[in-house]
Amino acid sequence: MSKRRPMLACEPAPSPEEERPQPGTLAGDVLAGLSATPKRLSSKYFYDAQGSRLFERIMRLPSYYPTRVEARMLRRHARDLLHALAPTGAAVELLELGSGDGRKTLALCRAWLKAGASLSYRPMDISAQALDRLGQRMAKQLPDLAVHPLCGDYFQTWPIPRAGRHQVALFLGSNLGNFAETEAVRFLRRVRAHLRAGDSLLLGLDLRKDPHTVLAAYNDPEGVTAAFNLNLLRRLNRELGMDFALDAFRHYASYCPLQGVARSFLVSQAAQAVHSTVLGTGFHFARGEVIYTEQSQKYDQAAVQSLTAQSGFAVHSWFEDPELPYALVACRALG
Ligand code: AVJ
Repeated sequence: MSKRRPMLACEPAPSPEEERPQPGTLAGDVLAGLSATPKRLSSKYFYDAQGSRLFERIMRLPSYYPTRVEARMLRRHARDLLHALAPTGAAVELLELGSGDGRKTLALCRAWLKAGASLSYRPMDISAQALDRLGQRMAKQLPDLAVHPLCGDYFQTWPIPRAGRHQVALFLGSNLGNFAETEAVRFLRRVRAHLRAGDSLLLGLDLRKDPHTVLAAYNDPEGVTAAFNLNLLRRLNRELGMDFALDAFRHYASYCPLQGVARSFLVSQAAQAVHSTVLGTGFHFARGEVIYTEQSQKYDQAAVQSLTAQSGFAVHSWFEDPELPYALVACRALG
């Protein structure tokens, strides 16, 4: 549609102040995402303070099954998981990527301590508040457990593994599902690079199931998921000086059973323009145009085999919930 203006030879090079915002920053990603066709915004920006609170409400919704199923499985299989993930009986360093407030992991740690494991727990999260709450909860309920929270980007804060300690990385909640396949492989390879051969990884992954069940999880009648999705626009209004009218966009969720992917969108209810003072530019929305905000991949065994094999892991054991398809996958880092 719009051709890019050719750069004129006499044009001065942009000064550092007016350089384009960089990819990987909120400003850079939003500029690129809202300039693209179709428009898109990364789900990683959902989790500001309000977004994190809304996600905690989602986890308590009757229709949002993954959290409950996974918590039940962690309790039910705690001992088998210990044997699958730490077969040598060596001291275990448990590193949780995106621990949040650590509610689910508490039960796992309790069971492992009870089984006689020598355990230290390193929850990693970008939310300092969540890590605070986690620390308080653990101190109260498991005072004997050594907890060392790490706040920030996983791959920047990842501690040097201590000698003689078996590292067990946890990546739960089907958080991997937010990545497209190539991104998921890239992510798992980075995890592999921080482990030694023989260390372990536990993935919690939502599996393909009746499309009605999946769709209902992203389309709750209470409207909490809608508020969670729309909160992204509120964040852009605040942090990028934008003027989104929140009632001019509606949450829409879909599930494609062929690809096994749930997708969320924000649908523009009218032809409208939205401006950003920080980006110094505006974006036009046609009536019915969507912003694609999230994908949540649902897996099957073959897909998990392929992802792990491509990133230097072998599947060691596979636990599946009998009531609702969900998997805990114990993996071993290959040499
Ligand atoms: C935390 C990324 C696993 O995709 O199911 C919940 C986030 N989005 N409802 C998911 C989410 C809408 C969730 N993950």
